[in-house]
Amino acid sequence: MVPTRNSELHALREAYKHKFLIGAAVNPTTMNSQRELLARHFNSITAENEMKFERLHPEENRYTFEHADNLMAFAKENGMAVRGHTLVWHNQTPDWVFENRSGELVDRNTLLGRMKAHIDTVVSRYKGEIYAWDVVNEAVADSGGELLRPSKWLEIVGKEFIAKAFEYAHAADPKALLFYNDYNESVPEKRDKIYALVKWLKESGVPIHGIGLQAHWNLEHPSLSDIRQAIEMYASLGLKLHITELDVSVFKFEDKRTDLTLPTEEMLEIQSKRYEQFFQLFREYRDCITSVTFWGAADDYTWLDHFPVRNRKNWPFVFDLEHQPKQSYWKLLEVARS
Ligand code: GLA
Repeated sequence: MVPTRNSELHALREAYKHKFLIGAAVNPTTMNSQRELLARHFNSITAENEMKFERLHPEENRYTFEHADNLMAFAKENGMAVRGHTLVWHNQTPDWVFENRSGELVDRNTLLGRMKAHIDTVVSRYKGEIYAWDVVNEAVADSGGELLRPSKWLEIVGKEFIAKAFEYAHAADPKALLFYNDYNESVPEKRDKIYALVKWLKESGVPIHGIGLQAHWNLEHPSLSDIRQAIEMYASLGLKLHITELDVSVFKFEDKRTDLTLPTEEMLEIQSKRYEQFFQLFREYRDCITSVTFWGAADDYTWLDHFPVRNRKNWPFVFDLEHQPKQSYWKLLEVARS
């Protein structure tokens, strides 16, 4: 088959322009290797890693903004919106944040002071340019009786660490839209906890504007009806919803096979059906869903390569290894037009 030039394909960003933004997570490598594809089809980007605490603020008195600034410049050149990801998280946060010089945990005020300094500096730097921030990422426990997962933030500050993060971010950029972001967001047990957390935040007057549904999904999980129920419940809080990290693994969770060098026809078929159903749902709820971001752009690069199964490639997007449209891409166009 003769490769289709991306410049001849209908751009996803155009197809969905009256519905929601079409975003991609990028990194310094993919901003080059996927440049043409990104510029053509996407009107929003997110840093896969470059705006995380450990990348921006490796030591208390040292910030490293070079890669994040490059990403902002790339967005500007290509007329793209930027979602900021992420301010407060239990992962990819350096130890210095929680410790004093002798390696003991700091007290509550010290940690809140450090959180505030970080958020002030980062959010102010991109004020008016990053229109939405994932303020707190993945604070909710997946299972068990506890609402929140154990973390040093929780241990030292208590559950108010979440409210504080939103307050600091809002003070730094009152116009930025502030999100709580999490995975397994459509699994009923976790969904109910995310709902309870965000309801509590809203009722306490915390400046929160939206919920980020990460949407790391696969060929059968979660079910469409669980996704619909999650959207309904979150939307009932009167908040905006962003799909923040969409990918559709071709492997079911239990499937550990490592023999494939390409996805099977059956996988691609089911994947395209899933993408079709997801985008039909997103379109249906477009009044509250204002952005859909893929956690990557094309199958040549995905964090799912070698995760959670080593030596296994994955093919989770709507563009293939050569940035050519997959069946899933054509489904998205059909959905946009229908
Ligand atoms: C989570 C985080 C992302 C990223 C992915 C894996 O979903 O929110 O920042 O680390 O895991 O790539």
